[in-house]
Amino acid sequence: MIEIVDCGSQLTQNIARRVREAGVFTEIIPFNTSVEKIKRADLEGIIISGGQFSVYDENSPIYSREVLDLDVPVLGICYGQQSIAHLLGGKVSPTQNREYGETKIKLKKESKLFDGISPSQEFIVWMSHGDVVEKLPENFEATAISQNGHVAAMQMQEKRIYSVQFHPEVDHTQHGRAILENFLKICDAQRTWKPEKEYDRIVEELKEKLNGKIGVGGISGGVDSSTVSVLVNQVSGESYHPIFVDNGLLRLDEAKNVKESLDKFLLNIIYVDASDRFLKKLSGITDPDEKRKIIGHEFVAVFEEEARKISGATYLVQGTLYPDVIESVPVYGSSSKIKRHHNVGGLPEKMGLEVIEPFRNLFKDEVRKIAEYKLGMPKSIVWRHPFPGPGLAIRIIGDITPEKLDIARKADDIFISELINEGLYYKISQAFAGLLGGKAVGVMGDAQSYDYIVGLRAVVTNDFMTADWYGFDKSFLTKVTNRIINEVKGVGRVFYDTCQKPPSTIEWE
Ligand code: XMP
Repeated sequence: MIEIVDCGSQLTQNIARRVREAGVFTEIIPFNTSVEKIKRADLEGIIISGGQFSVYDENSPIYSREVLDLDVPVLGICYGQQSIAHLLGGKVSPTQNREYGETKIKLKKESKLFDGISPSQEFIVWMSHGDVVEKLPENFEATAISQNGHVAAMQMQEKRIYSVQFHPEVDHTQHGRAILENFLKICDAQRTWKPEKEYDRIVEELKEKLNGKIGVGGISGGVDSSTVSVLVNQVSGESYHPIFVDNGLLRLDEAKNVKESLDKFLLNIIYVDASDRFLKKLSGITDPDEKRKIIGHEFVAVFEEEARKISGATYLVQGTLYPDVIESVPVYGSSSKIKRHHNVGGLPEKMGLEVIEPFRNLFKDEVRKIAEYKLGMPKSIVWRHPFPGPGLAIRIIGDITPEKLDIARKADDIFISELINEGLYYKISQAFAGLLGGKAVGVMGDAQSYDYIVGLRAVVTNDFMTADWYGFDKSFLTKVTNRIINEVKGVGRVFYDTCQKPPSTIEWE
C-alpha cells in the first residue's frame, strides 16, 4: 500500500483516486501522523501531497524528516517537492516568475519517473506555486526544468526519492497518469486493490456485525444511500428498515420513481410524507442558509420519529464515503476534525444506535462499481445526477410556495426527459431546471403576460469542486424552451446558465 501524506492540498484526493485506479491500495493521512504509524508492514511507497503553504510559513505542514528515511520510494508533489528540499538541506525561495496553470517543462536527465516519455520532448504540465527550489539538497539532481528555468522535477536515485513541482494527478498534465504509474513501478507496488474485492470484505464484516439485529437508515434514491441500502438488505433482509422522507422539495414523482427503480431488490422501505411540515416551516423564508438550517433540522426530527417506531433498532446505516472521513489537516482550522454526513446529526447518540458506514473506505466511483457489478443495480440509479438534500428549496430563488414548486417540478421534468431522449443525460454530470427570482413581461396571444422565469443548469465536472456548463445545440435549447413555455402554465421566460464554477456554484442558493 501507498501512504499519501496530506499537506492540505485540494488535490490530495485526486492522487488517491489515481493510485487506486491503478489497482494499488492507498490511504490519505494527515502530515503530522507519527512515523511509527506510517511505517506499516505492507508499506510500499509514500507520496507527499501539495499544499497551499510555503515551507517558511508559521503553520506550514512540516512532517517528520524521518518520513524520508523509511527505505521505501518517496514522491513529493508541488509543496511535497519544496518540503523535501527544505528538510534535506536545499533552499526554497519565493519567485517573481510564479507559475499557475499550464506550463511547459523539459526533461534534463534520465529518470525512472519519466520512463516512456521522450527525453527531448517538451510537455505541458499544470503548476500552482509561488515558491521554487533554488538550491537542490546534496546528492540530488534536477531531472526537469520549467520554461521559466525553475526546477520542475528532481531525484536522488540511491534513496529512491523523487519529486515534481507540477501536479501529475490532474488531467491537464500531459503524461500525468504515466508518471504516477512509473512511481508505482518504482515502488514495485502490488496491484491487489479492487472495489469488487472490497465488497466481499464488507459483506463478511456486515454479517458479523448485524447478525440478526434490527436497524434503520435513510434512503434518498441517490447512488450512495440506495447502494448501501441494497447491500445491508442483502445481509439483514427485512430487519433493515430504510426510511424515505418526502420533504415536499423533491422532483416530480420522486418517491414513485425510487420505488420502481429499486423494486426488484425487495427493500423494506418506509415512505414518510412530511411535505406539509417542511413547507409550513419554510413559508416566507428567503435566506439560503436559513432554508438549509430549517430543512436539516426538520429532517432529523422526522427521521427520529420514524426510527423510534422501529422497535428494537440497534444500528443506523449511513452512506458515508471516504472523502467524508479523511481527517482534514489542521492547516484548515484550529484542530483536526472528522467530517461526517450531517443528515441525522446527533441522532445515533441520542437513541443509542451504532453507526454502520460500510463505504467509509471507498470513493464514489468505487461505490458505483460495486452497485453495478456486484449488486446489479440499474444504470438509472448508479449514474443518477446528484440531488441536494435541501432539494428544490435551493433551486427556487427566494421564498418557496406550492405554486413555484409545481412549476419547477414540471419544468425540470421536461428538461431531464429531453436530456434522456437525446442521449445527453449521461454526458452531463448534473442538470436541473429551477426558478429564478421574480417575474418577467411577455406577450401571450394578444395580451401582455407577467410570468415566472425558469432557469436551466447543466454542468460537466469530475469532482463537483470545479465545473463547466454544457454546450447544447441551439435546436436542443429551443425545443426545451418551447416545451416549457407551452406546457407549464405560469412560465414566461427560460434562461440557460452559462456560469462556470468557480466563481459560481452549481446550485443557485
Ligand atoms: P455547489 O452548489 O456547492 O454544489 O456547487 C456542489 C454539489 O453539492 C450539492 N449540494 C448540496 N448537497 N446539501 C446537499 O446534500 C446541500 O446543502 C448542498 N448544496 C449543494 C450540489 O447539488 C452539487 O452536486
